[in-house]
Amino acid sequence: MHDIKAIRGSFFDLTQLVSHPAELAQSARFIDDGLLLIERGKILSLRPWSIAAPDLTPEMEMCHFPGKIIVPGFIDSHIHYPQTEIIGSYGDQLLEWLNNYTFPAEGQYDCPDHAAAMAAFFLDQLLCNGTTTAMIFGTVHASSVDALFAAAMERNMRIIAGKVMMDRNAPPELLETPEQSEMETRALIKRWHHKGRLSYALTPRFAPTSSTALLSVVSGLRREYPDVYLQTHLSENINEIAWVKSLFPEHAGYLDVYHHYGLTGRKSVFAHCLHLDDEEWQTLEHTHSSIAFCPTSNLFLGSGLFNLQKSWDRHIPVGIGTDVGAGTTFNVLQTLAEAYKVGQLQGYCLSVYEAFYHATLGAAKALSLDGVLGNFMPGKEADFVVLDPVATPLQQLRQKKSVDFAERLFALMILGDDRSIYQTWIQGERAYSRDQRHG
Ligand code: GUN
Ligand code: ZN
Repeated sequence: MHDIKAIRGSFFDLTQLVSHPAELAQSARFIDDGLLLIERGKILSLRPWSIAAPDLTPEMEMCHFPGKIIVPGFIDSHIHYPQTEIIGSYGDQLLEWLNNYTFPAEGQYDCPDHAAAMAAFFLDQLLCNGTTTAMIFGTVHASSVDALFAAAMERNMRIIAGKVMMDRNAPPELLETPEQSEMETRALIKRWHHKGRLSYALTPRFAPTSSTALLSVVSGLRREYPDVYLQTHLSENINEIAWVKSLFPEHAGYLDVYHHYGLTGRKSVFAHCLHLDDEEWQTLEHTHSSIAFCPTSNLFLGSGLFNLQKSWDRHIPVGIGTDVGAGTTFNVLQTLAEAYKVGQLQGYCLSVYEAFYHATLGAAKALSLDGVLGNFMPGKEADFVVLDPVATPLQQLRQKKSVDFAERLFALMILGDDRSIYQTWIQGERAYSRDQRHG
């Protein structure tokens, strides 16, 4: 029994995929005093301390987290690393916000040194917010994605990322030809896809910045590399949808543009999906596509309210996304708190189990990673977060009133932020510790 790590504390996870939120209570597992054993970065077992303690040996490295709650590492299903520095930009809705803030910021990523510095900053923000896996947009510059993958590899993080593809309706310095886009994307796939924990995602920004020639290129790459992911935006803003209709009048609607080019499917993740018609919901269901729900972004840009009920009705996997920099926080607890409020505005009561599902096992399913991530089942990769439910005096006061674990976790979700992230572990190694934070 060499090189085994033992983690003792309170554990929470969702043990099984579900097809209805009512089944989540059965999937939820809370072990008040548990012992997690990890070998070579993978989970050996999670059992109650009283049962597992006799198996401990003196050689095992042991960590004990009394008073904390240990959960699987958060999965952020949609985020833009080159928008870190424009988070919280005032006043505009989607299309103006892109022109006024996003495109100028993304223009700076032609400089590899800037990209490398921002990639490091960005990944460290994920870690200090408890996020261990993310699906990430780069910029149109291939070197932006090289910088991100290299920085993720240094940190041993599992990420999915891609170079933005766009050939119209953006400033000229951010445009490419379909031929360039194809060549650079293919080279990135060869360089990075399935290298260690890294995966590549074809990343056409959205329909308005894509010509039919570019969409044909994406389509060809998708056929050539069927296990590569695809990420894009869909049906976020009313003016955007009207624009897509005018740019693609021959198509039945927004999603039909992507579907026509074969861009729907199991490894396709569509961010937002706020204003879909019935046919579009049906297409997402029938193609086994996934959705990234980005509540802070949807509220900040005034885009609309995501309908979680419909996603369950249609059996569409949903992962939570922060969508920084339209989203206003890297923190998944805060993002889930906003998801709860989006539900409230529609008469949908998001349970804390469902919220954590969309940030762990359910998100892993949305990203086709549920075989390797998302909970503490044996064989899964040991990425986890140690949460502090009483990080502030207010939280200490509030948690005294919590009568059971579900209430404690809910109050943590609603009141929590980066102060709630005590430690973040990647493949059985400590990658961030709040107590060693500086600056
Ligand atoms: N649609 C196209 N590009 C973007 C982007 O960068 N952010 C958001 N929220 N929506 C988009
Ligand atoms: Zn986005």
